[in-house]
Amino acid sequence: MTRTALLFFICVLLCAGLFFYACASRHAEQKLEVFSWWTAGGEAEGLESLRRIFMSKNQNVEFINATVAGGAGSNAQAVLATRMQGGKPPDTFQVHAGLELIGSWVAAGAMEPLNFLFERNNWMSVYPMGLIDIISHNGKIYSVPVNIHRSNVLWYNKSTFMAYGLAPPQTLDDFFKVAEVLANNTITPLALGDNGIWAATHLFENILLGALGPLNYKNLWNGKLNWNNPKVKSALSVFVKVLDYINSDHSALSWDGAAQYVIDGKCAMTIMGDWAHGYIKAKGLKPDVDYGWIPSPGTKGSFNMLSDSFGLPKNAPHRDIAIRWLTICGSKEGQDAFNPIKGSISARTDADRKLYDDYSLSAMNDFLSDIIVPSCTHGAAASQSWVAKINEIMSVFVAERDVDKAAREFQEAAERYVNK
Ligand code: GAL
Repeated sequence: MTRTALLFFICVLLCAGLFFYACASRHAEQKLEVFSWWTAGGEAEGLESLRRIFMSKNQNVEFINATVAGGAGSNAQAVLATRMQGGKPPDTFQVHAGLELIGSWVAAGAMEPLNFLFERNNWMSVYPMGLIDIISHNGKIYSVPVNIHRSNVLWYNKSTFMAYGLAPPQTLDDFFKVAEVLANNTITPLALGDNGIWAATHLFENILLGALGPLNYKNLWNGKLNWNNPKVKSALSVFVKVLDYINSDHSALSWDGAAQYVIDGKCAMTIMGDWAHGYIKAKGLKPDVDYGWIPSPGTKGSFNMLSDSFGLPKNAPHRDIAIRWLTICGSKEGQDAFNPIKGSISARTDADRKLYDDYSLSAMNDFLSDIIVPSCTHGAAASQSWVAKINEIMSVFVAERDVDKAAREFQEAAERYVNK
């Protein structure tokens, strides 16, 4: 072979190599990793409905469903923190609207602003301003809300209530009357699954709301009301009394396990966000036939809200594909597929009401007429560090039931974390 022929041959080999490398890396780039904690009944199916829409428009993309089980992100958030700190963010991740987003990831400068996406899709006119406010910082919007959930709902087994001639409890006093009747008939009144302690905090935030009313409840989160005051102490005492009516295996059970106890008639009620509606429906039960709902005792007129959203971390490995995912999350099509399954309502004001059941329609109406208050447990009212501290205090409180100590520690936490 002459020298020229050899050179030519080497060039051909190099070009072919480069061509195959380019093709392979292009192929490898077609990925999307979506990080969430949606693994339980209802929530997993909801996520699947979004995945299906995404895949129908992006057939060549490999969808990586990176879920970490544990309600309320109890395990996922720690995994996410490790990845973010290690410079290995997923392409997009589930994060609660409010201080969970703004007080941690945005404060750390880890997120990309998404105003361009809101403008491109005309979302400014379809998202409620109140929601845009809590995902914004200094005029920049940092996530795409996919839903609105209600935290303050009591779910009950209709045949159990009918069998004992009971009406769902409207007030905390009613709750104890109903609970006494049930307990006297060897039915465990209230199901709690606090193997993730957040479920106890969730119950407590709704007892607080019922006992204090919406304005005082809100003032606990903005520092205007002291946690050491007699009203909070009395709510803590009510919480202790409620614990006398829960299942004995609560600390080994998850939130969906507790909802299952209500389905099975093992317990009569559970106080949980409306993802429980998604769970119970996914099990084949019929709303308003097999199970009923009512605002948790004492909270009629208040809507304790939270919102799941997805954000775009800086240095997302597949940024352009993540933007396609976020576009579906914010779309009417995406939200009207996801929310009727998830148990939540659309975060958009133009949802197709025909697709939603009676519970969701009642939640939509209440969202428009009630006083909206932010959930602490689910990241709307408090930063992740504050919620973590509250959960830590709650773990001890559930075991020790020392009201004065808990009130003191909650106040110390508020002083440390409010507005931070
Ligand atoms: C909440 C979340 C809901 C639901 C629930 C139980 O924090 O906002 O979407 O997933 O946890 O996992």
